[in-house]
Amino acid sequence: MNRFDTEDAAEQPVGRDLDAQGGDGALGAELADAGQTSAADLISAALGNTGETPAAGESAAGDAVEALRSFHVDIFTLFPQMFGGPFGESIIKRALVRGLLSVALHNIRDYTTDRHHVCDDTPYGGGGGMVMKPEPILRAVETVLAQPAGWALPASDAWVALPPWNEHEAAQLPADTPIVLLSPQGRPLTQRVVSELVAHPRVALICGRYEGVDERVRTQLVTDEISIGDYVLSGGELAAMVLVDAMTRLLPGALGYELGAHQDSHSPGTGGLLEGPQYTRPFSFRGEAIPEILISGHHANVDRWRREQALLRTLLSRPDLLAGAELSKRDRALLAAHGWQAPL
Ligand code: ADE
Repeated sequence: MNRFDTEDAAEQPVGRDLDAQGGDGALGAELADAGQTSAADLISAALGNTGETPAAGESAAGDAVEALRSFHVDIFTLFPQMFGGPFGESIIKRALVRGLLSVALHNIRDYTTDRHHVCDDTPYGGGGGMVMKPEPILRAVETVLAQPAGWALPASDAWVALPPWNEHEAAQLPADTPIVLLSPQGRPLTQRVVSELVAHPRVALICGRYEGVDERVRTQLVTDEISIGDYVLSGGELAAMVLVDAMTRLLPGALGYELGAHQDSHSPGTGGLLEGPQYTRPFSFRGEAIPEILISGHHANVDRWRREQALLRTLLSRPDLLAGAELSKRDRALLAAHGWQAPL
């Protein structure tokens, strides 16, 4: 056991109130902020730091962490302030502090050059709503991805001192950095997709807003499009947070107990099944005792019981997952006894 073994043990109150840096609602307030606060600074503000996120070798865990990889995420958004809370707590915060994960928040609006810093416009062909313009998004992503991981535009350069950018020709983009648009039209996010993405050293996430993004963002920039479910959010920011959370859990060293993510529902350790019930103290709560088998000390029986519970829970809640699960003869017999009909 070490001090990272439980989530609570690593918790520290976040010392700074992000709201103190200004709200994210009104355009005026956001524009006023952008001149003072770099979007990337929000990460260290959320961590309660004023300095840089430590490199792996300087982190609390020292040498043990040095051998671990570091994964970088660039997030392109009109609302960087939204990320401060979720990234300043729990597993993500710890991964940032330990240098396993680094995140740079890029405000798309910083990459506009017109007087009003406009990022959206009315749709060609009419219809309601607004569409995000392609130029600020392409300029932001092409500029950032031309730089090493960790770079962010200095706050004082927003709008006024942008690095040169060729509006007429596509930039060469790094082949090993997926450029992901979060949108309800994307492929569904699954644990497999999460593993696929986190295998890259760096990932760029673009958060759409309004009614959508100009199609040329897809045709000229985006290499992947991901949806977190068949419902419509107000923008891709919450989806990006979900994705970063799921990726962080897979970074070696991020959970403190190495088999943790492997044994999560939907993960290889559970063979594509949901996890079964878990219990902790007290033994009996409001007259409901834990299953006796868990205190039997018989590991093989406990493992078998857990497997059966995972199978039954999956049958009850997500029978569709059984079609892709690795099932033994014994598993199939148990499921059949509970009414499951194996797909032909
Ligand atoms: N943006 C809006 N809705 C979304 C969804 N369901 N998934 C990902 N991004 C989104």
